[in-house]
Amino acid sequence: MVDHVEIFEVGPRDGLQNEPKPITTEAKIALVDLLSQAGFGRIEVASFVSPKWVPQMAGSAEVLAGITRVPGISYAALTPNMKGFEGALAAKADEIAIFGSASEGFSKSNLNATRAEALARFAPVAEAAKAAGIPVRGYVSCVTDCPFDGAVAPEDVSKAVASMRDLGCYEVSLGDTLGRGTPERVDAMLTAVLRELDASKLAGHFHDTAGRALDNIDVSLARGLRVFDAAVGGLGGCPYAPGAAGNVATERVARHVAALGYQTGLDLSVIDKAAELARGMRHV
Ligand code: HMG
Ligand code: MG
Repeated sequence: MVDHVEIFEVGPRDGLQNEPKPITTEAKIALVDLLSQAGFGRIEVASFVSPKWVPQMAGSAEVLAGITRVPGISYAALTPNMKGFEGALAAKADEIAIFGSASEGFSKSNLNATRAEALARFAPVAEAAKAAGIPVRGYVSCVTDCPFDGAVAPEDVSKAVASMRDLGCYEVSLGDTLGRGTPERVDAMLTAVLRELDASKLAGHFHDTAGRALDNIDVSLARGLRVFDAAVGGLGGCPYAPGAAGNVATERVARHVAALGYQTGLDLSVIDKAAELARGMRHV
């Protein structure tokens, strides 16, 4: 039986959000439209966060309005609170993501809220999304390390994952935000997390600061995870995680898992073109 791996393309959001120079809406739309031809089932294209906090994502509604939607692709948006949810709903995002942290330091830095305060803000978002029939994905950041608090205990991660599950998230993406996780520590984290949620409802989201992202994907594959977030061209990082590099590159993950015998359904020639386009957008 052929085993499938899904890559959830996050380049237009996680890849671009950290770019200091403004990127035009047209350029963002062109990137999404090219990615829509690559065979992805889900692409994260927007982020309805405060434009004061992440100026690069300010044009998210225009991006969602301007892209050519390919039937069958879910175009996703981040929503930290009700204001963000209302923006995503108006812009017709197909799914939304709430994003919390396993560590207190990053929660405060990224959301200006403690972990408990952030969960309280997510609850009405999850409820409103359910009422509107919009699927909600959950992110848990800092699953091994926090830029402010240091090493994160696996139990803190499993607790955060359980909270996302209880809010009704259909899938929880485990973010190595800093990109310094080692396979051993990712494995220990997964031991704790898998007590709360089945591997079929988990995704891996590895930034690649220390060059271990593919090793961390291997460990996750061995634990049964089959969904991985990645960004074309390896762009990205979080403006509120100092020292973090980009997401693991989609083109590398796609080739890596194909070499291991997994099917991705992706057209690598399109992805390579999109990676070139994305890298070019960095320095315009
Ligand atoms: P705050 O300052 O505490 O919010 O920020 P507030 O409610 O006091 O509002 C302040 C101002 O922001 C107000 O405007 C609000 O209207 C506005 P003002 O009256 O000053 O003109 N505002 C908004 N505007 C647009 N959309 C909204 C929104 N909410 C408030 N949704 C807040 C709290 C959550 C807004 C802020 O902390 C924020 O935007 N944080 C987002 C940070 C972010 O986007 N980080 C990157 C994404 S996370 C990530 O990259 C990690 C991930 O990839 C996984 C991983 O790698 O681990 C997902
Ligand atoms: Mg990220």
